[in-house]
Amino acid sequence: MVQRLRPRRSCLAVPGSSQKMIDKARGLPVDEFFLDLEDACAPPAKPQARRNAVAALNEGGWDGRTRVVRINDLGTEWAYRDVIEVVEGAGAQLDCLLLPKAESAEQVRWLDVLLTQIEQANGLEVGRIGIEAQIESARGLVAADELACSSPRLEALVFGPADFMASINMRSLVVGEQPPGYDRGDAYHYVLMRLLVAARSAGIQAIDGPYLQIRDVDGLRRVASSSAALGFDGKWVLHPGQIDAVNEVFAPSQADYSHAENILDAYEWHTSVEGGARGAVMLGSEMIDEASRKMALVIAAKGRAAGL
Ligand code: GLV
Ligand code: MG
Repeated sequence: MVQRLRPRRSCLAVPGSSQKMIDKARGLPVDEFFLDLEDACAPPAKPQARRNAVAALNEGGWDGRTRVVRINDLGTEWAYRDVIEVVEGAGAQLDCLLLPKAESAEQVRWLDVLLTQIEQANGLEVGRIGIEAQIESARGLVAADELACSSPRLEALVFGPADFMASINMRSLVVGEQPPGYDRGDAYHYVLMRLLVAARSAGIQAIDGPYLQIRDVDGLRRVASSSAALGFDGKWVLHPGQIDAVNEVFAPSQADYSHAENILDAYEWHTSVEGGARGAVMLGSEMIDEASRKMALVIAAKGRAAGL
């Protein structure tokens, strides 16, 4: 069961230090944007980036999109002040904090406790602000299962390929593409499947990371399609030119969506005429059962979230 199923097909990275990019992001058709206080901001720019993030959230204009701020990781001197300034300054306008380089359940619980204190002290609804945990190291991946169920605030596990590649000494400089010289299939299959299974075991979403070849939209589409096929809910985007492809890839096709709704209708109809009995039933020449209904529920939920 997914507790808070916010649409997250496309998640746009917006450097908190760039007012120009924040203003531009307001007009972009993404499901989520995150104002980045971490790696997109040089250390001297971080205090101003926090102020920009607070102002951007309070000024609004984000029209139903999921509003997220990526704080600095908990090994830095900046993280606690990121949380305090952003949540005290704009907590009512914030949907989630994104915790990068997450490596243990304790880190998420620390953030959960701090959020609760700030919410209580500032008259905010306790527990409304969610957390996304970014897995981008060997240690983070090993802790994926405990991370996924570390807090009721946790809404998604997010893959961070660049930091992850560095953490395992992968011999590649091209984020999102296969490492040169590797010829035994998909070098990312293990990590993506591992992260997806951990997320699903806790009923939360799984988001794929960025594709850095901004101009290669075909390459982006290929990589995004394979994580969407696996079951991922969405992917980061770094540039306006990446948004349409990602929104399209992570929404089911109209045909699959209609098929899923037909399966649900057929199952519902058979269940009602047969007095609530559930088992295998026919939809045209296709046999469907409880497992088909669950698969159809997933596709239908993604299609409805995408407005199909
Ligand atoms: C994103 O944060 C990444 O490391 O890929
Ligand atoms: Mg990273």
